Amino acid sequence: MRKPYIAGNWKMNMTPSAGAAFAKELAKALEGVDTKVMIAPPFVTIPAVLEAVKGSNIIVAAQNMNDHLSGAYTGEVSPAMLKDLGVTNVILGHSERRAIYGETDEFINKKVLLALSESMDIDLCVGETLEEREAGKLEEVLTRQVSVGLSGVSAEQMSHITIAYEPVWAIGTGKTATPEDADDAHAFIRSLVEKLYTKGVAEELIIQYGGSVKASNVKSLMSKKHIDGALVGGASLSVEQFLPIVTFDK
Ligand code: G3P
Repeated sequence: MRKPYIAGNWKMNMTPSAGAAFAKELAKALEGVDTKVMIAPPFVTIPAVLEAVKGSNIIVAAQNMNDHLSGAYTGEVSPAMLKDLGVTNVILGHSERRAIYGETDEFINKKVLLALSESMDIDLCVGETLEEREAGKLEEVLTRQVSVGLSGVSAEQMSHITIAYEPVWAIGTGKTATPEDADDAHAFIRSLVEKLYTKGVAEELIIQYGGSVKASNVKSLMSKKHIDGALVGGASLSVEQFLPIVTFDK
């Protein structure tokens, strides 16, 4: 039975002091709430947030990492550094990394394999653009992103993988995918994983939906068979907006 997993991607928001204050407020608001929750601050805000949520069950993740453990990669952050902070979860392949920073499926796969070799848990983002959807390429795009992104990942390692389906045209636009469209895409992703691995691996895989998730639409999204959680952007930046999403089933 897949349990809900709600994640907040803060993107490039929250200074260390603001992030710590927010995280402390969120941890207090989530006391006694057993839903699996992750928050992903910007790199420089992670230490302060880790301190602020100490003693809670909130998972603190990175939004990205380099594909090397160390070296001449100016401005980058290594998984070894994240682990030294106590961070063992990382979002990889977000559409903004793909669109703005040119990350390819192959490059993202290198990061996935390195994160797994460092015993990290990964939230692998996939999703089509509006042009791709309107051109009828949804399944082609998801097939490429999932199969290349998971290349070399063993069935045993799949327990460390969560997939976030984030239709690019729904991110930050207020245009949420309909629960039916989202569920269809999730079902297709799950069928892909069954072909790549086994029915058991596919059934256990947590697939989050991301793209303008709000308190007003989370219940209808989460009512769908193949939607196991959410990767929330804008609505993850305040307790007022994020708490009702986390506690959608309470
Ligand atoms: O990673 C989650 C993000 O891309 C979704 O953003 O603002 O549409 O919830 P938003």
